[in-house]
Amino acid sequence: MTDHPKACVIGDPVEHSLSPIIHGYWLRQMGIAGRYEKVRATPDEFPSILEQLAANGYSGANITIPHKTAAAALVDQLHPSAYGMGAVNTIWYTDNRLIGANSDVTGFLAHLDGTVPKWRQTVSNALVIGAGGAARAIVAGLSNIDGISVSITNRTLENMVRLIGDLEANASIIDWHDRVEALPDVDLVVNTTSLGMAGQPSLDLDLTSASSTAIVSDIVYTPLETPLLAAARARDLRTVDGLGMLLHQAVLGFEKWFGQTPVVDQGLRDDVRAHLAARA
Ligand code: ATR
Repeated sequence: MTDHPKACVIGDPVEHSLSPIIHGYWLRQMGIAGRYEKVRATPDEFPSILEQLAANGYSGANITIPHKTAAAALVDQLHPSAYGMGAVNTIWYTDNRLIGANSDVTGFLAHLDGTVPKWRQTVSNALVIGAGGAARAIVAGLSNIDGISVSITNRTLENMVRLIGDLEANASIIDWHDRVEALPDVDLVVNTTSLGMAGQPSLDLDLTSASSTAIVSDIVYTPLETPLLAAARARDLRTVDGLGMLLHQAVLGFEKWFGQTPVVDQGLRDDVRAHLAARA
């Protein structure tokens, strides 16, 4: 047995998770003798793995597909970042109670802050495309910022209506067929769907009518430059890639499990990009 802190990512599949690369980089960089492991768990196994987490020596974990919703119901207490999300991606212990947080909100905003530092001063209308799990975090983050009006467009109306209700978000709905017409008034466009990911169709969104000052953000990071971001760049619009959100969302867990605040630096980006390239 060792006293070195350890954490893990729990999911299924978990083999291709990038979390071990991210936390491994920070552990090496800071010289912390901790470990970060992958734990594969089926939905049947997940509750008992969570219950045994501390007994098995873990300080906490990241939770990934398909357990994020189950985890939100199983933790002792939700962190405010997970309110209304119905999903938890980072867990840790405080006073022996298992706390569940959703670090995607801060991950998304921190990456936007880092990529377009003055975006908060220039964005008053944001358009979020999609209404899945990632959209929840992004709508929650943006709709809490004073001075920003959030609109959502999604293929399936009911899903965006449910999202707005669950989050009690102040957001308006744009019919999926009207998404292009909405563009001229939008300062920030965020694709939260999986469209544009390698092997998937591209997001059908003609950016011709977008404002020349618009920022275009995509949460897809394989490829790093999605067709949407390539089209934005061709129009000289500012772009925000999906990798940064993934890197920034990892900060909270590392801080809780290993006791130090890590930095998302170029070395980390390069490391993760090299892993993605080797995999392609
Ligand atoms: P995640 O949790 O990663 O956000 P998700 O919950 O499966 O993933 O959400 C996927 C999002 O992509 C949804 O908004 C989905 O739209 P629906 O609510 O209509 O299902 C959207 N999406 C997926 N495939 C799509 C497609 N071919 N065209 C339009 N939207 C699509």
